Amino acid sequence: MTILVTGGAGYIGSHTARLLTEMGRSVVVLDTLERGYRDSIPDIDLVVGDIADARTVGKLCRKYDVDSAIHFAAYKAVGESMAEPLRYYKNNVAGSITLVETLMEHEVKHVVFSSSAAVYGTPDTAPVNEDATLRPESVYAHTKADIERFLTSCDATGLRSVSLRYFNAAGAHESGDMGEDWTATANLVPVVMKVLFGAQPSLEVFGDDYPTPDGSCVRDYVHVSDLADAHVKALDYLATGGRSLVCNVGTGQGTSVKQLIAMTESVTGRSLPHHVAARRAGDPASVYADPTLVRAVLGWRATRDLREIITSAFRWHERHPDSYER
Ligand code: WQD
Repeated sequence: MTILVTGGAGYIGSHTARLLTEMGRSVVVLDTLERGYRDSIPDIDLVVGDIADARTVGKLCRKYDVDSAIHFAAYKAVGESMAEPLRYYKNNVAGSITLVETLMEHEVKHVVFSSSAAVYGTPDTAPVNEDATLRPESVYAHTKADIERFLTSCDATGLRSVSLRYFNAAGAHESGDMGEDWTATANLVPVVMKVLFGAQPSLEVFGDDYPTPDGSCVRDYVHVSDLADAHVKALDYLATGGRSLVCNVGTGQGTSVKQLIAMTESVTGRSLPHHVAARRAGDPASVYADPTLVRAVLGWRATRDLREIITSAFRWHERHPDSYER
């Protein structure tokens, strides 16, 4: 019995595949390597291929006797999704539907899906819980909401799923040899690291006049290894008969951009050059999770704090200034 991890050579996927392997579970990764890295999972079986390629997926299911799947493979850049909707709907939506169809044909009945807090758009409340109205504001967020709903509908066919709505994934593996590629992202923590290591002169703080305690935006930063752990718990929940579920995966703790800067300076002992810039279009003032459901149903809670996020990200970038080899 093997767990198929699509997108398992990507940032969150690779941490999850590694954790599963360390726990003695059998894992096979399917990844196109378009945005993932073989070097992120050197000791794990990797099939280079596309989720929409039913032949490859079918072959892999038979060869490895796949009985459950964690589906990470997707494009995830919000800005790019607005410019290239076809690419996003084709891969994230059509590709996921074909994948699930193939999984069903091969009797795979448990799927854990990478969703995103982006499905909430600008929530009316902080913290936000799963009952909030979904108001996706980007093509990317729409594709995640679509597949959540599709998977929930598949319940009727006997396929049970857990969709995990991640808040802001950040940090790196404790070993220092696995982390996020800063060249491919404009997210806050990798940009902070670029500035620390001189790859960017100064951090732009996108707005300091929001209705938050210090005026900068508040988010819920979750350590990538805690996220990996949530996937294991979701798989175990399904394996023990759990019903389909959609839940937040966040710490419940809001952190402002300015607090994150202060933490970075305290952890690293370096000063972080930064300046206030204009607000970034589409940024909600404050988004953090109500993690009640994930705690109660999956028994998951974050065990690593912001200090650990910054420490681990720093360690990774210090040791791997050029990320992985392509
Ligand atoms: C965090 C905060 C910025 C960069 C995005 C996606 C979301 C999800 C996670 C996948 C914000 C501020 C950032 C910088 C800054 N992705 N910031 N200067 O926007 O909360 O969420 O990534 O599922 O879908 O929308 O994350 O890291 O871009 O920003 O001041 O150079 O940092 O304004 O408040 P965001 P982020």
